[in-house]
Amino acid sequence: MAGWDVVATDDLLTGPEREDTVSKTMDVLRSEHRSIGFLLDLLERQTNLLEKTGEPDLQLIVEIIDYFRSFPDMHHHPKEDLVMRRLRERAEGLDAEFFRLDEEHDQLSGELHAFSRTAAELIAEPSPMSRSSFILEARAFIERERRHMSMEEQYFFPAAERWLTEEDWDELDEVVNQFVDPISAPHAVQRFQTLSAQLQKWKTEAA
Ligand SMILES: [Fe+2]
Ligand SMILES: [Fe+2]
Repeated sequence: MAGWDVVATDDLLTGPEREDTVSKTMDVLRSEHRSIGFLLDLLERQTNLLEKTGEPDLQLIVEIIDYFRSFPDMHHHPKEDLVMRRLRERAEGLDAEFFRLDEEHDQLSGELHAFSRTAAELIAEPSPMSRSSFILEARAFIERERRHMSMEEQYFFPAAERWLTEEDWDELDEVVNQFVDPISAPHAVQRFQTLSAQLQKWKTEAA
């Protein structure tokens, strides 16, 4: 996804002027980006800890990766793909690199799979080799995810807000309502308990 910032984004970002978009979908997507960003910070801290002391919180690392495998992959990206499909219809005739967002999601998913295997090796057999592979891949993963979200926030979200109609948002909001973030839900599912507690603590401190 090298060219997001160069291909035909101008026309998309100066599309039809609409009243301020009121969309639950966009609120949800932005809020999920904040949660994902927080988890990437957590992962980064644990990676630094691994490098410095060799003793990160392995349980937390397992939960973070488990979360990435089950939430962004299964819930966040599909929602964005829905919005993107609608944007492609509305902005017919225009094109941009980020119209291939679903391909990037597939690619991220494959990379996450590879990274989770490296994490499993670190946990099963901690050694200088498995530690340095983990550190390398974790940092690459964090960087890719951050870049992906930042591109979406810079180009994709504003373009969707420009082009989609109120009816589009009503339809999308209804679908999006059915997805629940497993760590933000009032009763976080058992396997994300540590993560959920960390997220609540972070939200309280940030408020
Ligand atoms: Fe995405
Ligand atoms: Fe996203």
